[in-house]
Amino acid sequence: MLDDIEQQIIKDFPITLNKIYLNNGSIAPLSVPSIKSITDFLIKYSELGPDSEDISNYMEKMIEETRLRIKHLINCNAIEVSFTQSTTQGLNFVANSIDWKKGDIIILRGGRHEHYANYFPWLYIAKRKKLKIKVLKIDQNGFFDIDELEELAKLKESKLLVLSHVLYNNGSIIPVEEAGKIAKENDLLYCIDAAQSVGSINVDVKKIECNFMAFPSFKWICGPLGIGIFYCSEKSKDTLIPDSIGGESGKIISDNSVVHKDIPQKFETGFRNYPGLAGLESSIRYILRTGMSKIISKNLKTSSILRNELLKINGIDIHGIENEKLRNSIVSFSSSKIESNLLKEKLEKEGIIMAERDLLNGKKIIRASPHFFNNEEEIMKTIKIIKNILQQM
Ligand SMILES: Cc1ncc(COP(=O)(O)O)c(C=O)c1O
Repeated sequence: MLDDIEQQIIKDFPITLNKIYLNNGSIAPLSVPSIKSITDFLIKYSELGPDSEDISNYMEKMIEETRLRIKHLINCNAIEVSFTQSTTQGLNFVANSIDWKKGDIIILRGGRHEHYANYFPWLYIAKRKKLKIKVLKIDQNGFFDIDELEELAKLKESKLLVLSHVLYNNGSIIPVEEAGKIAKENDLLYCIDAAQSVGSINVDVKKIECNFMAFPSFKWICGPLGIGIFYCSEKSKDTLIPDSIGGESGKIISDNSVVHKDIPQKFETGFRNYPGLAGLESSIRYILRTGMSKIISKNLKTSSILRNELLKINGIDIHGIENEKLRNSIVSFSSSKIESNLLKEKLEKEGIIMAERDLLNGKKIIRASPHFFNNEEEIMKTIKIIKNILQQM
């Protein structure tokens, strides 16, 4: 039996009426309140006049409110929050804005096992600036050896440590707080790709002690596409020298030269995606109102049922750690009886949406990423359909 809150959540996510949507690690659906916030904003914007004093004041308030919501979500200060287009853009800010010296070392985890958005920017800047990349070796679940990190961090050329908080292909939660201590002890800059963590698990930048973090609106926060969040800690703001500047992010000083404004505008060159911001603000409000602890326990319960039921099916392998403290709700699996892409397609025909992804060894797996609007009934229906498909193979 669903309680009143769960029933309301289902009503707010009308996708639940049509499909079993288990693909929130790719793009999560918007809730009805978020859709309404976007349309309300667009109506107001047209009625008040896109470039009028009234809408400017309204937008200023909306932007500040959104920064405050993010402050509550990741435990930062509001001025440390800049709005970007995407996670990728935030990571590229870091890559392109550090004052690199030839031979500086960037420490990464897993090389090609990383999401390309958190791999290509570092390879590219390394090539352009003649930097060195050191890759932490990983085990089958994507975890690295903390002693190896300590050794690499001690190298005098080591400059930056970059980690994903939660792995996109199997949901492993990387020990970012432990790594943060090592980064701090060795005076490294520390950047986190939080695309798969914010909205899915607790994220606290003060505990992680990272300098920079990037994440999107459209995954676990259930916000719109085209808007991302870039966190730059106040103490690190002078470390980054952006390669772009414009009317919104720069100012003329007394000797007639142009300089960047302070954070957060420093990274906000040009107008932002304001309709997207209206949706993002509403989506974070929804997440905070529901409560991260409730979301986490619901997601772990649903994903554990999925894991356990999948394990009972002959020929299915689960890829990823079982321990609920070390993973989010992502469940990655494959079958010896059917190629992952074919199984994904067959499930999609039945209205069950998941993603196909790669593991380190190139193995294709299916990734289910349930979120708080999914429930046990949907999981059991999914299991029944998987069994039916496999029986026909
Ligand atoms: C770990 C990780 N990093 C980065 C990205 C890219 O995010 P964006 O599209 O916001 O740049 C994704 C998206 O799937 C991801 O899973």
